[in-house]
Amino acid sequence: MAFNILISDPLSEDGIYPLRQAEGFNIVIETNLSPEELGERIGEFDALLVRSQTQVTREIIEKGTRLKIIGRAGVGVDNIDLPAATERGIIVVNAPDGNTNSAAEHTVAMLMSLARNIPQAFHALKNQKWDRKAFIGVELKNKTLGVVGLGRIGAEVATRAKGQRMNVIAYDPFLTPEKAEKLGVQFGTIDEVIRAADFITVHTPLLKETRHLINKEAFEKMKDGVQIINCARGGIIDEDALYNAIVEGKVAGAALDVFEEEPFLDHKLLTLPQVIATPHLGASTVEAQEIVAVDVSYDVVSFLQGGVVKNP
Ligand code: NAD
Ligand code: MLT
Repeated sequence: MAFNILISDPLSEDGIYPLRQAEGFNIVIETNLSPEELGERIGEFDALLVRSQTQVTREIIEKGTRLKIIGRAGVGVDNIDLPAATERGIIVVNAPDGNTNSAAEHTVAMLMSLARNIPQAFHALKNQKWDRKAFIGVELKNKTLGVVGLGRIGAEVATRAKGQRMNVIAYDPFLTPEKAEKLGVQFGTIDEVIRAADFITVHTPLLKETRHLINKEAFEKMKDGVQIINCARGGIIDEDALYNAIVEGKVAGAALDVFEEEPFLDHKLLTLPQVIATPHLGASTVEAQEIVAVDVSYDVVSFLQGGVVKNP
């Protein structure tokens, strides 16, 4: 039996070897399709593999008359219309833990860069300014890190922050005081976490319940001079509220890897010197990209050949 597979976002070539070696699999890699072009082509394919860029909308899914499985090479499935896929009986698989380590390391890199103004100082030096006064930072030791969402990545970040001798307080609806104790973190409600923290990092999925979880009211409850990190999903933090909180001096700095609209080339938050940012690079390591591509490729092969998947 032959299967047509479309890969519409850049995936690790080494990671897609399970697809390459499967008999009867025709692989098409087209990573620059417009939504219209994707809509015109999708009817030819049995499987679609994406990262976070391709928007797998209801319209695309409805045009995917042969489509049986959608593979998301990463964690977040917020770029896929899950109800539309379910209605059509199309299975959606992801790679839930292949990029956990990379995303946690990126979060820690952002935390440390934020505390010590490393990107701003580097930028000044590149522009021939030797300025030691403007870039005085703060230590992490004995500061409190608030972790909102203590899942795979949040827990890894918490462990590493403890290595920096930070106090960690976390909120997650599934966290119990016992589990918190086991992980060596303090247990708190969302209010307790955001009130206590010097640095706040969010690691929830983007859901109806978490959209703008960190909003104007939340910023008002925080300590003066708090610093914010978002390496999870744009939209968990209300960007307008963050902008105002920085301009008003409530928030001293923010490190952002993800944004409400991606990609973009200008963004008002980036006009603020207190904001450092990367273009959604949390999972962008050789290792993570290989693992997530291998995981979804295996699931696609296994599903099309035998109807079994590991990560539905
Ligand atoms: P996970 O499912 O392991 O953890 C998410 C946690 O959030 C869960 O423990 C869940 O209980 C908790 N949660 C849900 N609703 C909540 C709420 N209202 N308040 C507080 N906590 C809540 O997911 P993960 O693998 O740790 O990924 C976390 C986030 O990071 C996701 O949004 C994912 O898409 C994103 N991510 C980003 C990158 C990147 O490149 N920047 C890379 C990987 C993952
Ligand atoms: C994810 O949810 O896994 C991340 O957004 C990583 C990515 O695919 O870029």
